[in-house]
Parts: sequence; C-alpha cells; structure tokens
Amino acid sequence: MRKIIDLIAEELAAAFQAAGYDKDYAKVTLSNRPDLCEYQCNGAMAGARKYQKAPIMIANDVVEKLGGSQCFEEVGAVNPGFINLKLKKEYVTDYLNQMSDDENLGLDRAKNPRMVVVDYGGPNVAKPLHVGHLRSAIIGEGIKRLARKMGHRVLGDVHLGDWGYQMGLIITELKERKPELPYFNEDFEGEYPAEAPFTIGELEEIYPTASGRAKEDEEYRREALEATRLLQNGHAGYRAVWRHIMNVSVADLKKNYESLNVHFDLWKGESDAQAYIPDMIERFRREGYAHMDDGALVIDVQEETDTKEIPPCMIQKSDGASLYGTTDLATLIQREQDYDPDQIIYLADKRQDLHFLQVFRAARKTGIVPEKTDLAFLGFGTMNGKDGKPFKTREGGVMRLENLIAEIVDEMRKKIAENRTVAEEEAEETARIVGMSAIKYGDLSNQAFKDYVFDVDRFTSFEGNTGPYILYTIVRIKSILSKYEAGGCALEGLKTEPAHDDNEKALMLEVLKYNDVMETAFEELALHKICAYIYDLSNAFNRFYHETKILAEEDETKQKGYIALLLLTKRVLNSCIDVLGFEAPERM
Ligand code: ARG
Repeated sequence: MRKIIDLIAEELAAAFQAAGYDKDYAKVTLSNRPDLCEYQCNGAMAGARKYQKAPIMIANDVVEKLGGSQCFEEVGAVNPGFINLKLKKEYVTDYLNQMSDDENLGLDRAKNPRMVVVDYGGPNVAKPLHVGHLRSAIIGEGIKRLARKMGHRVLGDVHLGDWGYQMGLIITELKERKPELPYFNEDFEGEYPAEAPFTIGELEEIYPTASGRAKEDEEYRREALEATRLLQNGHAGYRAVWRHIMNVSVADLKKNYESLNVHFDLWKGESDAQAYIPDMIERFRREGYAHMDDGALVIDVQEETDTKEIPPCMIQKSDGASLYGTTDLATLIQREQDYDPDQIIYLADKRQDLHFLQVFRAARKTGIVPEKTDLAFLGFGTMNGKDGKPFKTREGGVMRLENLIAEIVDEMRKKIAENRTVAEEEAEETARIVGMSAIKYGDLSNQAFKDYVFDVDRFTSFEGNTGPYILYTIVRIKSILSKYEAGGCALEGLKTEPAHDDNEKALMLEVLKYNDVMETAFEELALHKICAYIYDLSNAFNRFYHETKILAEEDETKQKGYIALLLLTKRVLNSCIDVLGFEAPERM
C-alpha cells in the first residue's frame, strides 16, 4: 500500500499545480503542533522567494484548490504560511480497513528483492559469550528480520572468531597439561579420538588461564603464536584439537543464542576463509596490490580525499600468520562466490570502524567485491553499567551473557509475583518472555551507535519506555478481545468505524504510520525508530483505553468498530516486536 504521507503529498502536489505553483513545494510532514492539525505543509514559505509573494497568499491559493479533496476534513492556511491539514475520518478508516485486509498490514514487499547477508553475533569460540556480544546478536537479529519482512532474501551468518590466537593459546595450554595426547605426537599416524579431551567447563577455564600466562611469559606467548600459525597451515594434530574445541563450543553457543531467540542461517567462521587465503595472497602479490611494509604484507587503502591518515590493511604478519583483515577479505571472496550478495551488513563494536573501512576499501580496490555489492558497517556503542563504565559483575569481572539474562529474569519474576494473577509455572515462563523484552527493548530503543546504560530497574519496569510496558499493552488488548469473544461475539469481518472522538482518532493516526516506519527503519538500519513508534502507539492506545468504555459500549456498531481497531493495533504491535525479536505472553 502507498504510504499515507505520500498520498497526502500527492493531493497537495495537485493543488499546488492547480493554483499555478511548482508541485515540488508540496512536501508534507507530520504536524509539530498536534493540537492544531495532524499533518502540515510548509511549501508556501519555501516558494515565497520564487513567486515574489507573501507565503500566506500562496497558502490561501493552495487551500482553495483543496476544497474538493477526499482526504481532508479541514485544511487551513495560517500565518505566516503554514497549511494545516486534518484527515477525513472516512479516509482514515478506509486506509485502516485496507491495512487489516492485507496479511502484510499494508507493507509492500520489495519489488526487486535483494540478496542480503547479515554478519552478526561474531562470538569468539572457546571464550564465554559476554555482554559485548549481546548487542551484536540483538541488533543483527533485528536487522535480519526486518530485511526479511521487507521481502528481501537474507542470510544471517554468525561469523565465528575461530581462527585466531585464542586457538593457539588453548592448544598450548592443553599441550602443557596433557602432553601424552596423540595430537601432540608428531609421529602419530592413527586416528585421533572421537571424544574431546575437555568439557565446555574446562575449556572456559583453559582459555583465561592461557591468556593470563601468555601475558606474563614471553616464551609461552611465542609458543602460542607458533601453535596458531601451525594450526592455520594445516598441522594435523592441532586441526584435530581445533575440531574438538569447535564441536564443544558451538553446541554451547547454539544453546545460548537459542535462549535469546537469535537464529543463524549459517554457522561459518573465520576458519572457513582459510581455503581462499593462499590464492588470494598470491594474486595480491602478482597483481601488485600488496607490498611489504616493515616485514608485513599490506595493501594501501589511503585515498586522495582523506583528511586523516588511513593506515594500510595488513594481510600477513612477518611470521606468515593471517590477521583479522585477511579472514574478512577471504570471507568476502567466499560470499561473493556462493551468494552473489547485493548487500552485506556487518555488526560489530563501533571501535572496529577503522578495520571495516580498511577491509571495504581493500575489497573494492582488489576487485573482490563488485560495484553492485553494498558493504555496510553498523557499529554499535558500549553497554555500560550504572557507573557509566562497561558493564561488569558485582565482583568486577566481565558479565557473562547467561548471568545477565538470569539477573533480568529474576527481577521480572519478582515483579510478576507482585501482580500475581497467574500460576507458578506460567509465571516462570512469563518472567522469561517479559525479561527478554526488557533486555532487547532496552538495547534496541537506543540508537545503535550510542553507548547506553544497562539499568535493570528501569528496563524491567512496567511503566515508561520499556519492553514490559509494550507487552503489557498487548496483553491488555488480548484480554479485552478474549472477553469480547467470550461474550459470544465474533472477531471476524469487523471494520473500523469513523472515529468517535479525538483519542480514537489519535490511535488510528498512529496505526496508519506502520508501513512508513518500517520502510524508514530499514533504509536507515535504525531499529530504534520501530521502538519509538510502538511506544507512541502504546501510549495512544492506553489513552484511548482509559477514556473509552469498550466492553460496556451498548451501541453495537460502535463497539464493533472499537474491536476492529484493537485487532489491528494488536497485529501492528505484534509485527513490530517480532522484528525486534521478542514476543508477548498471554497474561502477565
Ligand atoms: N569476532 C569479532 C569480535 O568479537 C566480531 C566479528 C565481526 N564480523 C566480522 N566479519 N569481522 O569482535
């Protein structure tokens, strides 16, 4: 369906033209004085210069031509030249009824679907998931769902950090602890054991131990670097250990992401890029893209228009090991070859922006990525504690994801117990569902780029701009609908009725913004705009609810109109929270 704002602008364009003015002046925006009007056009002011006329005269001319319009109930020219617009009630309900007849709620699916890869999550294997990875997972999942809702073909790839130094560290530590294992016997020719020589618990202890040792002990660090290099170059025993690390960690990661309602289509990682690395480097050298700099192989990515220095993209260290940039470039080769993407969206901490700038430039320069593939980096800020520093545990360590979720769910359980209308078991499940909304909404309602404070009290509150408030609103609607149904009335075939008062109209005006909001959020990769929208929509609904007798309404037609509006509001809210990656319980 066409966006309402475009339909209005079209009416204005015709009126500008009919009055003898250029239709380009007919831009329409939401009103910034909702007490006076619903939409407004400031084009008369913009045109004053060109037509050498007072803006109010232009506005008057245009308003006169809008007389017969089907859209408006009221149009007015006000000083110094605003055109104030109020939509006709029937026009609004007509639009809403079309929305409700459409399974996609009036959101047009892309006519030319694009192939989009979303690279998000990015956990580092064998290291526990920590809150730093939470944002990547939450935002990336939302972007993936939104792109899909817009009708694009989308692949979400977890892009595991599984090929770097941490693997060398684990191998080195394991070798020290259990040198008798066959993986470390260079003459071993049999089959390596099928069972991993550690559990996930041990693995999570091995990594920090090794990492700590390497910082103190230079010899140990050199060994870990050497183990990393040997692993990358195909050392059989180390590859076998690596496979065990992968199996054990990936199973654990899947469980964690599952609990966050985050689902990847692809479980690829940096290691999958290895197959492309030798040929890629060979070509870079042969075609003159790469050169030696201080013992390392690099690609220059500085451009003439740069105002500051952009260091070259490092491809290979002096010891022959590959780097973060190497795997990202090689991964691009694989993605181009296997998926032919129109767009690749990367999610990572915003402090990685230089890395992505270097990789994107190197990829274009060397022709790995063709013109048609858009490369986007969506960098996000840090999640801080109330003290304004990166979120930590009470003991001061890095908070693990599982613990963070548990903390929120605990808090939710307490709040739900206070309201206590549901059975124990249901309360537990509800606490989990609502807790998830608290975490995700708390994150997504901020502009991704900004740092934000993870405030358990605020995020879990049922009031204010929070996930639980949105869910509370949906649950309220569900409860009215089920009471209506229980009274023997059908929910099918209902149509909204022209608004009976301002609160109802205000709610309608929010509902009809849905397709506009979704399109904008996708174009700008800005999920916080969906959050802001459902907050406004929930507020409009609750104002309407408090001022209106719905179930007690005696006029049947009027009541049916209300119920139709509730049904539509609920569908819009549900569709939005689905994109944000959470759901509403039946009761709370
Ligand atoms: N593993 C990285 C990290 O923990 C994030 C990976 C982001 N994706 C990429 N293709 N580089 O920071």
